[in-house]
Amino acid sequence: MTAGRWPQAAGRRVLAGLPAVFVAACATGGRQSALDPAGPQAGRIATFYVFLLVVSAIVYVIVIAALAFSVLRTRRTTDERSETRKEHVMRRGVLATGIASAVILFVFLFYDFGVGRAVTEIPTRDPLEIEVIGHQWWWEVKYPSPLASNAVVTANEIHVPVGVPVRFRLTSTDVIHSFWAPNLHGKKDLVPGHVARTWFQADTAGVYRGQCAEFCGLQHAKMAFIIVAETKDEFRTWLEAQRQPASEPSDSLRAWGQRVFLGNSCTLCHTIAGTYAQSNVGPDLTHIASRGTIAAGTLLNTRGNMAGWIMDPQGIKPGTRMPSNQLTPDDLKALLAYLEGLK
Ligand code: CUA
Repeated sequence: MTAGRWPQAAGRRVLAGLPAVFVAACATGGRQSALDPAGPQAGRIATFYVFLLVVSAIVYVIVIAALAFSVLRTRRTTDERSETRKEHVMRRGVLATGIASAVILFVFLFYDFGVGRAVTEIPTRDPLEIEVIGHQWWWEVKYPSPLASNAVVTANEIHVPVGVPVRFRLTSTDVIHSFWAPNLHGKKDLVPGHVARTWFQADTAGVYRGQCAEFCGLQHAKMAFIIVAETKDEFRTWLEAQRQPASEPSDSLRAWGQRVFLGNSCTLCHTIAGTYAQSNVGPDLTHIASRGTIAAGTLLNTRGNMAGWIMDPQGIKPGTRMPSNQLTPDDLKALLAYLEGLK
């Protein structure tokens, strides 16, 4: 292999690899991607990202081309006059590229300020308010209401109406977490003892996955949440259903399951509205059967997963505050039936 050929061969390999890189970058769309915006803020952030990427790529190509040119060209002249001229040209070139770099960085800076300002200002005086409280390792979600009995408490799944700005009040009970639904907005930290605010608006109905984006301990990776963006009517129906107290057990098996729940340590941590279980150490279970996932997006809400979670949460999510339980098979079956009735 000669010195002249290898950059060409390497160049061909790089070019051949580029489509794969772009396919990998573009195919990540769907439920959790900052490059698949579903609202105005994520849209602005994605456009800004593409702008940075394209400009940086152009600059990179120019720099590499200039480098390759200076490495590969053959020196033809060595006399003193042409050396002086070359030095003069080079000095101008360095000055010009220095100025161009400064201009490009200032364009980035002001574009960044513009995007920051545009995504921060909420365009309404009357947004939907939602409170999100970070816990190790799950999300408490509250829909406040002037009428206390109309307030809704749920966990890990946030329903929002499409086309409506939603303002979030974010705080934490233990360590710093970060609220991030990439399809809708950038990250916002939840800091203990401090109220942070952010907002977003979903323009496209769908289910979007969010993720805690600040390392918060052993199960940081399993601290996900779901955003369900739905029509205003669907949202109203959902909110109304969530306002109701838990359904009473509809048969003897479920009644038995309720006795299992209320007679065990479940009540020390969980709330089921309409019963005397009123603790908020763990997620509110009043409408647990209406949720698609359990354990903060860790498992789908199926009977088998719920059984595994109740009996051996430490095996599924080591370090979680949920203790393992010793239930007889019959008690477990009844408890599962009861929880499945909490629509
Ligand atoms: Cu909560 Cu990471």
